[in-house]
Amino acid sequence: MELATQRTKWLGKSWKFFEVTSSTQDEAKKWVQEGAPHGALVIAEKQTQGRGRLGRSWFSPPRKNLYFTVALQLPSSSPPLNTLSLLAGVAVAEALRSQFNAQVFVKWANDVVSSDGRKLAGILVEGLKDRSGIDWALVGIGVNVNLTEDELPDELQEIATSLQILLGRKLNRFQVLDAILVSLENWWEDWAGQGIETLRKTFAQFDWLKGKQVRLSLPNGEKFEGIANGITEKGELKLTLQDGSELCFAAGEVTLRSLEIPFKA
Ligand code: BTN
Repeated sequence: MELATQRTKWLGKSWKFFEVTSSTQDEAKKWVQEGAPHGALVIAEKQTQGRGRLGRSWFSPPRKNLYFTVALQLPSSSPPLNTLSLLAGVAVAEALRSQFNAQVFVKWANDVVSSDGRKLAGILVEGLKDRSGIDWALVGIGVNVNLTEDELPDELQEIATSLQILLGRKLNRFQVLDAILVSLENWWEDWAGQGIETLRKTFAQFDWLKGKQVRLSLPNGEKFEGIANGITEKGELKLTLQDGSELCFAAGEVTLRSLEIPFKA
């Protein structure tokens, strides 16, 4: 099996491939505890317990998509961990746009979507400490590449899509992986070196929620409705409420959906 990761400088140069595993996040976690290098990549053909955010599962059939995790050692003064999911979203969207001409967007905080809001890629960021107490991030990325409409399970028909559905052709998954890793490596260097300002500007260009009416739920059951208005310098979502006031929300446990019917002022 060939991994086309030669265009990167350091990301994905050390890698582990699994035909089947529970989750690439679990394998990457084990590897970090055993001494993985910064930028280590774990990729699987199939996951039996692919994980999404908020305890959801991630549809992971074999030979169709990409499921991978990169293990990144955090610099001592890095921007907050939650901004890494913005970084990964922007990196994936930029790679798919520039290399494959795919009209994709980032949907705060963790999703890459098509123009109709169907999800094409999901990102899961988990933090951990290695045995020497150094902080790491495991950035897990799932991309629906060569799934057809028929292959999407019923519960995903309305909400998910794939690159093949979007572009009308099959793609080489390893070219997709390569493009994403190159982009991720560039964005990581920018993020670790300069912070999130450039990232925020690019996020704004790809921001699917911008100007849309959304409903947001907090874990305590509180709900807010408003117009999404970009992100703050900490990566929080800005929401303009009906009365004109603005609230900011950190990604964490927030669930969010865009509303089809705009509310009347
Ligand atoms: C989400 O949208 O909720 C995040 C989905 C993340 C899925 C990827 S697939 C590779 C890695 N391994 C996992 O178990 N999850 C992530």
